[in-house]
Amino acid sequence: MLMMMKLVKLVTSVMVVFPLLVNASFSLYNPLDSYLIACGSSQNITFQGQTFVPESQHSSLVFQPGNSIVATSNSSVVPFPIYQSARIFTQKASYTFQIEQQGRHWVRLYFFPVPNPTHDLTSTAVTVVTDDFVLLSNFSFSNGSSMFKEYAINVTSDTLTLTFIPSNGSVAFVNAIEVVSMPDELFVDQAMTLNPSAPFSGLSELAFETVYRLNIGGSLLNAENDTLGRTWENDMKYLYVNSSVTNVSVSPSTIKYPAGVTPETAPNSVYATAEAMGDANVAYSNFNITWVFPVDPNFSYFIRVHFCDIISKSMNSLVFNLFINTDIAHGGLDLSSITNDLAVPYYQDFVSNASADSNTLMVSVGPDTMEDITNATMNGLEIMKISNSLKSLDGFSSVRSFLPSSQSNKNKVGIIVGSVVGAVASIAFVGLCYCCLVLHNSKSTEQGRPLLSLPSLYGSSHTMSWMSKTSHRSGTSSFISLSSINLGRVFTFQEILGASNKFDERLLLGVGGFGKVYKGTLEDGTNVAVKRGHPGSEQGIYEFRTEIEMLSKLRHRHLVSLIGYCDERSEMILVYECMSNGPLRSHLYGTDLPPLSWKQRLEICIGAARGLHYLHTGASQSIIHRDVKTTNILLDDNFVAKVADFGLSKTGPALDQTHVSTAVKGSFGYLDPEYFRMQQLTDKSDVYSFGVVLMEVLCTRPALNPVLPRDQVNIAEWAMRWQKKGMLDQIMDQKLTGNVNSASLKKFGETAEKCLAEYGVDRPSMGDVLWNLEYALRLQETASLALTEPDNNSVNQITGIQLTTTLQNFDNGLGMIDGGNSATDDDAEDAATSAVFSQLVNPCGR
Ligand SMILES: *[C@@H]1O[C@H](CO)[C@@H](O)[C@H](O)[C@H]1NC(C)=O
Ligand SMILES: *[C@@H]1O[C@H](CO)[C@@H](O)[C@H](O)[C@H]1NC(C)=O
Ligand SMILES: *[C@@H]1O[C@H](CO)[C@@H](O)[C@H](O)[C@H]1NC(C)=O
Ligand SMILES: *[C@@H]1O[C@H](CO)[C@@H](O)[C@H](O)[C@H]1NC(C)=O
Ligand SMILES: *[C@@H]1O[C@H](CO)[C@@H](O)[C@H](O)[C@H]1NC(C)=O
Ligand SMILES: *[C@@H]1O[C@H](CO)[C@@H](O)[C@H](O)[C@H]1NC(C)=O
Ligand SMILES: *[C@@H]1O[C@H](CO)[C@@H](O)[C@H](O)[C@H]1NC(C)=O
Ligand SMILES: *[C@@H]1O[C@H](CO)[C@@H](O)[C@H](O)[C@H]1NC(C)=O
Ligand SMILES: *[C@@H]1O[C@H](CO)[C@@H](O)[C@H](O)[C@H]1NC(C)=O
Ligand SMILES: *[C@@H]1O[C@H](CO)[C@@H](O)[C@H](O)[C@H]1NC(C)=O
Ligand SMILES: *[C@@H]1O[C@H](CO)[C@@H](O)[C@H](O)[C@H]1NC(C)=O
Ligand SMILES: *[C@@H]1O[C@H](CO)[C@@H](O)[C@H](O)[C@H]1NC(C)=O
Repeated sequence: MLMMMKLVKLVTSVMVVFPLLVNASFSLYNPLDSYLIACGSSQNITFQGQTFVPESQHSSLVFQPGNSIVATSNSSVVPFPIYQSARIFTQKASYTFQIEQQGRHWVRLYFFPVPNPTHDLTSTAVTVVTDDFVLLSNFSFSNGSSMFKEYAINVTSDTLTLTFIPSNGSVAFVNAIEVVSMPDELFVDQAMTLNPSAPFSGLSELAFETVYRLNIGGSLLNAENDTLGRTWENDMKYLYVNSSVTNVSVSPSTIKYPAGVTPETAPNSVYATAEAMGDANVAYSNFNITWVFPVDPNFSYFIRVHFCDIISKSMNSLVFNLFINTDIAHGGLDLSSITNDLAVPYYQDFVSNASADSNTLMVSVGPDTMEDITNATMNGLEIMKISNSLKSLDGFSSVRSFLPSSQSNKNKVGIIVGSVVGAVASIAFVGLCYCCLVLHNSKSTEQGRPLLSLPSLYGSSHTMSWMSKTSHRSGTSSFISLSSINLGRVFTFQEILGASNKFDERLLLGVGGFGKVYKGTLEDGTNVAVKRGHPGSEQGIYEFRTEIEMLSKLRHRHLVSLIGYCDERSEMILVYECMSNGPLRSHLYGTDLPPLSWKQRLEICIGAARGLHYLHTGASQSIIHRDVKTTNILLDDNFVAKVADFGLSKTGPALDQTHVSTAVKGSFGYLDPEYFRMQQLTDKSDVYSFGVVLMEVLCTRPALNPVLPRDQVNIAEWAMRWQKKGMLDQIMDQKLTGNVNSASLKKFGETAEKCLAEYGVDRPSMGDVLWNLEYALRLQETASLALTEPDNNSVNQITGIQLTTTLQNFDNGLGMIDGGNSATDDDAEDAATSAVFSQLVNPCGR
């Protein structure tokens, strides 16, 4: 067995969670998959502190010498030792890597057309593809320079194949290859688009190629300085006016990483240097610092902007704007109010195209003219090309056009590199840190305390301070310690093991940010869903608490209810009863389940709306769900809709406040644009998300579909355009055609349109939405009543609806359980036997 991994300095992780200490999680990342190959070399080559190993040292290597030639070169002509040798392929050839840990991997390729008597490598044209993506297409090295390429590929099977294809009847070659895993949290599925400013998701399916990575105001960093082997270059040559800036730096040890940002996000030496507005040579104090990057306008780009306020002397003394091209990306950015301290890293992700009519991408920061502080800063910037709809990062050909006979190229495989990485598994992921969101201001809110400060789940009866501040009105805090309220049944870990067949992967129903969901069966035969949190995750502890606390206090026919939980051995396990018909989304698209009728869809929407209406108004304090989407609306045996997943919920504003100021959480595609801009949460944010759900139900397509033409990607924008033209019937699910009463559809469309209003104040309350949907159902019923025989069930459904609960419940806190006293509404029995869980993929209990 041969170790190919980077020898990472062994870590004893400091994952002690000190109360109120924010920079508590440090660990050196240790990649599970780490292949560093010096192609064609006969010896190890050390480059930037990393050891690249020849293919020949792999016992599991399958090698057909006929397909490749080794070329080596005098070290005097090569720019770096890594380019000394090359493997030249006269035919298509592949490297197949065993992958231990699926997810994003760095794929790094080193090319240098070494002088060779047999083949002139400067006249070759090289194509490189993975199983799914085209990395390089027909690329020529005619200028004789070396080239380094870095890609971030999400590997979703247990092998990754890199195929080198010669074109032009010539040869292909490569000097060195790296395939290294990276933390899943590094690149999430979502980012913001600009103009219009809207959330974009679907990134996890796409491949990235690094085009620029800058250590702004700092020196060149390479694999020796970065735990993920990245290179960060100085930004000077991209500055539009380089005399306008001044370098700022502090000692790297002063950088305080908050929860969710780690040295893997960017090393502290990136955050410890920055540029700010210089004041020496400029006539105006108000100008932008602008970086200009040549890019290929045929692609979209992922842009990550790193900030860390190392220039301010005190809090709230720096407010500036961030622009991408000429679009405002973040206005009035006040870093210290987001991070609640100075010298705390923060980053934001965007997706953008090149600026209109040019082959450049521009990023600028400049002072906010609304403020009297005129300075601006930036610490780091990453720009990555995003694969296009043909899954290519270079040109307009798909992998299939290079490898027409899929998988039949086995006989042409030149080299197979076996897996030798098992040994690392035991030390990897010590102290893995969460960063599940794009906007990492999770450390604190304006209410002033870190969210994640609890030393242990049950060790303290303290409430989270920011929450208790908002809970005074009701007299009893709505967030009391778990031990003092009735949380349903407490399961032993043994019981959970029995129910889930020791967390049998075959019973896995889904995986989400919180952890895994398994199908289980209790001793009495009840089907349940067992949600098991990642151990040791602070984010998880917080969401676990929230979910238990929310669920145990809320009882409603259209809300999830919990059977119990298990917290033995620092496990975080929630047990729900199984919802046999699974998530609403699986009945809309992506599966072959039978389509829902219009009436069913209306009833489901009405059910979900009732659940949300109850959340907003039924409890003594309004509760905002924050993650309303079609996968969080689950259906029971009778297709009764129940709202699930309270992990992100927050209590709403107290009476004297109009909003809750908070880190942006939720799912892109459903996110209220106002919430995203202002980070101010109101119940109208849920109404917006519900509007997206309504459109999804009607059109049976995902909220965001990045594969579609740009103007159709976002369902909210796209459907609104058709709704405004009064032509919603053109885009509705074709399976509904002929079975929808036009007045009912009109009412539905108007309701969705109101929900999707740009500003929260223009959106209806959930109660109004409910009323309108019921009206739409009645219109449909009346129409079908006139045509066919009456349907008693649905008539009952209508008359059963009560819209008068709002005020009563608001005053007496009806529906809240206090001190273990199960005060429930009249749906309690129903609710107790229903249960919901999030991230359900396959319906269970079948
Ligand atoms: C090359 O590096 C590998 C891994 O670092 C090591 O096991 C091997 O002994 C080295 N070989 C030589 C010839 O130095
Ligand atoms: C390498 O360099 C030495 C002396 O610098 C020279 O004699 C030799 O021919 C070179 N070899 C190749 C392959 O260029
Ligand atoms: C293709 O090969 C010919 C000679 O075989 C060479 O002249 C030409 O430059 C090559 N084209 C490319 C793109 O490398
Ligand atoms: C590669 O480039 C050569 C010369 O530019 C061209 O003739 C050939 O068609 C290209 N091949 C592909 C697959 O694009
Ligand atoms: C040669 O081409 C590569 C790839 O396009 C480029 O990165 C490099 O800067 C070029 N070198 C020169 C000297 O033009
Ligand atoms: C990789 O892709 C899979 C399947 O699309 C997805 O579940 C996973 O979250 C992705 N991982 C990352 C790190 O994007
Ligand atoms: C800022 O620092 C970088 C790296 O140390 C250096 O290359 C650059 O010249 C400096 N710029 C100014 C304006 O001093
Ligand atoms: C990068 O690492 C090298 C080698 O360890 C070291 O000499 C250099 O000072 C480091 N640079 C920075 C900016 O930390
Ligand atoms: C600014 O850019 C010009 C041209 O790129 C360069 O000559 C000059 O040295 C740069 N100034 C600084 C301070 O780096
Ligand atoms: C911005 O801040 C830097 C660092 O504190 C300072 O050197 C510079 O003069 C400031 N620029 C302006 C325009 O105030
Ligand atoms: C963009 O694509 C067009 C063909 O659609 C091509 O002509 C053009 O060269 C491409 N632009 C760049 C910068 O590669
Ligand atoms: C900064 O750049 C933005 C975007 O291009 C522009 O709208 C704004 O006017 C600029 N500000 C100044 C002071 O030039």
